[in-house]
Amino acid sequence: MFYGTCRINELNHLEIGGCDTIELVKEFGTPLYVMDENHIRENCRLYINNLRKLHENSEVIYAGKAFLTMEMCKLIEEEGLGLDVVSGGELYTAIKSGFPAKKIYFHGNNKSYAELEMAVEYGVGRIIVDNFYELELLRDIAKKYQGKKIKIMLRLTPGIEAHTHDYIKTGQLDSKFGFGMENGHALMAVENALSIKGFKLTGFHCHIGSQIFEEEPFKDAAEVMIQFAKTVNKKYEFKTKEIDFGGGFGIKYTEKDKPLAVKDYITILVESVKESCKKHDISIPKILIEPGRAIVGEAGTTLYTIGAIKNIPGVRKYVSVDGGMSDNIRPALYGAQYMALIANKANCPKEETVSIAGKCCESGDMLIWDIDLPKIAPGDILAVFSTGAYHYSMASNYNMIPKPAVVFVKNKAARIVVRRQTYEDLINNEVFSPHSKHISLASF
Ligand code: LLP
Repeated sequence: MFYGTCRINELNHLEIGGCDTIELVKEFGTPLYVMDENHIRENCRLYINNLRKLHENSEVIYAGKAFLTMEMCKLIEEEGLGLDVVSGGELYTAIKSGFPAKKIYFHGNNKSYAELEMAVEYGVGRIIVDNFYELELLRDIAKKYQGKKIKIMLRLTPGIEAHTHDYIKTGQLDSKFGFGMENGHALMAVENALSIKGFKLTGFHCHIGSQIFEEEPFKDAAEVMIQFAKTVNKKYEFKTKEIDFGGGFGIKYTEKDKPLAVKDYITILVESVKESCKKHDISIPKILIEPGRAIVGEAGTTLYTIGAIKNIPGVRKYVSVDGGMSDNIRPALYGAQYMALIANKANCPKEETVSIAGKCCESGDMLIWDIDLPKIAPGDILAVFSTGAYHYSMASNYNMIPKPAVVFVKNKAARIVVRRQTYEDLINNEVFSPHSKHISLASF
């Protein structure tokens, strides 16, 4: 639970990045996403250094869907990672932050013509083509932008099922993502891509799932992808320059989670790629990986203020916080579990078992069931750990609850990277006037 720079200080308060979390709450309010900047940077370095050590011709690409802000893009660039984006909005955020377009990898299973055109205009490094419709859209765009070489990779569905939650499995044949290998679509896509003037096919991509703890799926992915590279080499004399193995490296949410060490994940992947290349007699391609959760997940902590406490003797004690599924949808969506402590009573003995409820109007808005904590009172601050990935990025305004602020903490200092939404922000896009009437479409 005490990841990165988390510790308990002499006041018995939780401290992150040298900042007393109770002081952070006074300054920025709750709910508050606190990101441990040094921990994020350390994770970036762990991935880059371990990968480079084993295979110089490699790149770590941060999956922005886990947590993306302009400051995060800047950090990622400073640490030398590439960036995976999946929408026009993520692409826009990256470009606005000054992130180099060449280091951007554009993913997604339904990129629109406008998004693809935007990517070509900015000159993104790679477009990871997901399906035949996208190939057709890009063919048109290539015609329009003659003279621009559009570098693409093809996303493949290697038919490997990683052991993780059903909703986040993306590698099996029955998936909305990528060209199936088993049904021949992947080969058809290669043939198609090679025939289009203006395209430069550089290699292939796969993503076999998320929050993976096992070695086998990575080993299998390496073998299947290299085998495919061999097949296309034989069939089309195409030399695969690079293979992107996606993300999926697991992290710890609770004591039950047993992720491998970063070094082990990478060693398994790289050694398997090398072995398969030897077996199939092809040269080792550039190896790319796309960790998202593993870069930011454990570096994030959410702080909440405790409000209503409802005790049902003999049944359960509900302790409600001032956030919930609007800032953390993962328990409701995936049954995700978390560790937490009372930030202002960090070292106090655990005295009661309670369940942490959110403030949304849904019985399912529960953040944690049955957690042992010190005696709790309204006004206490609850810190929920491992909330750096897929929390801010999946936050919503359900029940018109403003999204929390995000602060980066480092070396005893905090800086706000996203300000808290105001009520005004919530109604900003609404068109509302006492005289509003319907207008026929023709006059727009
Ligand atoms: N690359 C691709 C193509 C992906 O689809 C994903 C995640 C990643 C990389 C990064 O995966 P990671 O290293 O973060 O596991 N909302 C879910 C996770 C969905 C992941 C979707 N794709 C959650 O909260 O667990």
